[in-house]
Amino acid sequence: MAQYIFEPFKIKAVEAIPLTTRDERERFIRAAGYNIFLLPSDAITIDFLTDSGTSAMSDHQWAGMMEGDESYAGSRNYAHLRAVVKDIFGFEMFVPTHQGRGAEQVLFSVVTGPGKTIPNNTHFDTTRANIEARGSTALDLVIPEGLDPTNRHPFKGNMNLAALEALIQRVGVENIPLAMMTITNNAVGGQPVSMANIRATKELLARYRIPFYIDACRYAENCYFIQQREEGYRHKTIKEIARELFSYADGFTMSAKKDGLVNIGGLLATRDTALFEQIQNRLILTEGFISYGGLARRDLEAMARGLEEALDERYLTYRVGQVAYLAERLLENGVPIVEPPGGHAVFLDARRFLPHIPPAQFPGQALTIALYREGGIRACEIGSVMFAKKDATTGEVKYPALDLVRLAIPRRVYTQAHFDYVAEIITKVYAQRESVRGVKIVYEQPRLRHFTARFEEV
Ligand code: F0G
Repeated sequence: MAQYIFEPFKIKAVEAIPLTTRDERERFIRAAGYNIFLLPSDAITIDFLTDSGTSAMSDHQWAGMMEGDESYAGSRNYAHLRAVVKDIFGFEMFVPTHQGRGAEQVLFSVVTGPGKTIPNNTHFDTTRANIEARGSTALDLVIPEGLDPTNRHPFKGNMNLAALEALIQRVGVENIPLAMMTITNNAVGGQPVSMANIRATKELLARYRIPFYIDACRYAENCYFIQQREEGYRHKTIKEIARELFSYADGFTMSAKKDGLVNIGGLLATRDTALFEQIQNRLILTEGFISYGGLARRDLEAMARGLEEALDERYLTYRVGQVAYLAERLLENGVPIVEPPGGHAVFLDARRFLPHIPPAQFPGQALTIALYREGGIRACEIGSVMFAKKDATTGEVKYPALDLVRLAIPRRVYTQAHFDYVAEIITKVYAQRESVRGVKIVYEQPRLRHFTARFEEV
């Protein structure tokens, strides 16, 4: 039986959670077109839709909000954030952005264009969409173990270096404006990347003079896994590990809504002076002036403080331990999940959970509906709804390697009893899995369709 790691904090403010009846949930989910993104939050008891921007801030962060210096330029909160970014990441040139995709939008609008290719271990959907919106190709090159839900490789998020080198030789250095590494690798289960793989990726790219950028949303969780699992890091602090990790990067984007422990905010950093000028110009056009990037200055203060808090080992032990606790409760009951669990979420393997539903009937989506119906739990499909692609000429649909349902755990929000409830509901749905039906899409948009699509049960 997994031990639940004691919260390294006590609770100062509480927020009531909605409780609903089965009839009410049936009405709510039908009205939402069977898409959990379209449910009002008042209809949700446990919200595991995302760990992004859903964390609880500390009293220290809230106190920092009161110390917001709302000057348009040169605010003291910007100066604090700049000092923290330098201290943790070792970057001097950075801009705040309103969130991660703001950083992506600014970066990709200045570095890429039609005919270019941007490889990554696995792109997150907004990263992919921002690249594709500029006529470029976003390629995923995770190691094969990353796509095997039962393989217990300690660093399943790693980049496939042989595939990366083959790609460079196939498309040519001039067509790869930069390569990325997403830590942790969200789309394959929040799986970490090893320091050895990051170093080797940097060395390979450096030989071809291709810049190396990190998608750093969950870098602190990744550093914790390096400390726990990689030879030679057991006695290093999280900050020391982060400093080494980012020393290999030529730049990074970050959604601070994850390991920045804030409800809104992002970062974009580079070591390229000429590129930084273009970034600043683009930022001013779309996000805001360089010393606030679309955020209130109080948000910069909360971000500066949150970035520091996320380095606390006691916090990371509890955080990653909480995810492992839920995973073990599910495994004990035979529920198929991606193993080992990642840093921010437990991923249910919908194809093994619902083997009677083919990918064309979206087993992941069907499972999100069943979890909501049974217990008011909101989880997110990461599978065929999000990633299946229709070939423009042949009309043939290509399905992704996995159909997953992500239970993303907000930081510092839920307690052990909530996790026990969730494990109980999922186990119940698993016992009744044969009654769960597949779905078909009755409305969709051409890009990022999962947010707005509507479904019917088949
Ligand atoms: N990169 C990764 C790896 C992400 O997980 C996200 C967001 C982003 C970039 C974009 O950041 O939301 O601040 O614009 N992930 C959230 C999620 C939405 O639920 O996983 P954003």
